[in-house]
Amino acid sequence: MRKKIVAGNWKMNLTLAQGEQLINDILQTGLKLKEGQEVVVATPFPYLLKAKALLKNNPGFYLASQNVASEKSGAYTGEVSAEMLKSVGVDYVIIGHSERREYFQESNAALAKKIDQTLANGLKPIFCCGEPLEIRKAETQNDYVAKQLEESLYHLTVEQLKDVVIAYEPIWAIGTGLTASAAQAQDMHAFIRSQIAAKYGREAALHMSILYGGSAKPSNAEELFSCPDVDGGLIGGASLVAADFTAIIQKLA
Ligand code: PGA
Repeated sequence: MRKKIVAGNWKMNLTLAQGEQLINDILQTGLKLKEGQEVVVATPFPYLLKAKALLKNNPGFYLASQNVASEKSGAYTGEVSAEMLKSVGVDYVIIGHSERREYFQESNAALAKKIDQTLANGLKPIFCCGEPLEIRKAETQNDYVAKQLEESLYHLTVEQLKDVVIAYEPIWAIGTGLTASAAQAQDMHAFIRSQIAAKYGREAALHMSILYGGSAKPSNAEELFSCPDVDGGLIGGASLVAADFTAIIQKLA
């Protein structure tokens, strides 16, 4: 009923030649996606056009950018607008990754504007949320994530929300080798879905794909993806190795 998605976030890694090789290696495994399954590749900006050309005749494979400007157009040196992304064939946009929030001071309010630009240009946001370690230790992660959802998403209409994918990424698990246990992931995903249901109704909540991110790898993906509210993963480190990334895709339930 809802889409199952594995998205690879390359972050600031790989040259163009290495990226091309990686996409070709992934495609050459002959991976067959089942109905309702999608693979998303989020490359650095300069590789988007090339990546689109490689992915385009492969049903179920989609292209993402890792960021987008919060403004429509104009004098914003170094920024890339949603309209530009659309014009080069981007499908999804990762918004609010914890590295953007932490190193580039992206606030929930600024992310709300990025969501609006993304949707206004017919692109689909992958909205990242998740708590740092001290919040998890204080057991206040639910309040923390609820606020992220409220301040960046709850101005949307139920119709707009249909194009939004959420990625829960506990910051303490990103790139650390520490993974949330399947039970921790399921608890938070169920909580997020319940929040969406309270705000937008059960139907909208059941339709929403919620991905897990944070040191997902071939050895733990099956257990994570078997959780009823985990609809796939946002994969960092393991998305840079074709064999690992495709092994994770094959764990989609
Ligand atoms: P990781 O990154 O898989 O390397 O932990 C996940 C992410 O940041 O999206």
